[in-house]
Amino acid sequence: MSTQSVSFQNDIMPLFNQYKANMIWRFDITNYEVVKDNAQMIYDRISNQGDSGYMPPPPFDPFTPQQIAMFKAWMDEGFPP
Ligand code: HEM
Repeated sequence: MSTQSVSFQNDIMPLFNQYKANMIWRFDITNYEVVKDNAQMIYDRISNQGDSGYMPPPPFDPFTPQQIAMFKAWMDEGFPP
């Protein structure tokens, strides 16, 4: 059993995949290096619900507190692939 609680392949990529087509104009949110390099900006967008720049935007449901915490944990754990 892995000691890592969050990984890009198992947790982040499957969550972001459904939004890929809407964000590919800017960057590929299913690409590990791209998400890692833009992680703080992505975290700011997904965590500030109610802000005009919130992602994913309406009519999509906002991420749950658990999903947002998972992304933060992935950052804090050093971006496990
Ligand atoms: C996991 C889902 C998503 C993430 C992590 C995400 C992330 C981001 C980030 C980080 C930016 C800022 C880019 C910059 O400043 O250069 C952005 C902008 C934008 N995103 Fe997303 N996005 C997601 C889903 C979506 C969806 C589903 C749509 C449309 C249906 C969308 C439409 C846009 C648009 C139009 C902008 C430019 C306007 C703005 O900066 O607010 N995004 N997104």
